[in-house]
Amino acid sequence: MRDFLIFLIAGAISVVCAAEGEVLYMKYGCYGCHGAKAEGSASFPKLANKPRSYLIKKLQDYKKGTIHSNRADIMQPFAKKLSYKEIEAIADYLANIKENHEERYYQEFEVGDSSGS
Ligand code: HEC
Repeated sequence: MRDFLIFLIAGAISVVCAAEGEVLYMKYGCYGCHGAKAEGSASFPKLANKPRSYLIKKLQDYKKGTIHSNRADIMQPFAKKLSYKEIEAIADYLANIKENHEERYYQEFEVGDSSGS
């Protein structure tokens, strides 16, 4: 029972963080390059569903300026604006983006179905 409660609380916390992450992702304009669903494009990497720990590490390294790829200068100013907590929230959102998307699709589908006729 206790484990179950802890499980529920942990689940609720990660849902809250992911929602906050989506707001931050929009607020800082990340979608402008990486896409509204973090799907990426020919010039910008996809972020959706990459492992949370990988995303956190990358964002911290851009923030610290320790990544020296050709195009890291494009990404660095955006990472520099993020606090550690914001990086975690954005990573929570990005790592779980597919599930969010499917859930939303399902809800939209239901709404559309009942008001359609
Ligand atoms: C002006 C365009 C631009 C914006 C805006 C931008 N990025 Fe990026 N981002 C890039 C580019 C270009 C790269 C690849 C850089 C490289 O090659 O090292 C990148 C790389 C990344 C990576 C590493 C991806 C990987 O697979 O290694 C992450 C994570 C990331 N961005 C997150 C973000 C977040 C979060 C934001 C918003 C705070 C953001 N980006 C805003 C252009 C952008």
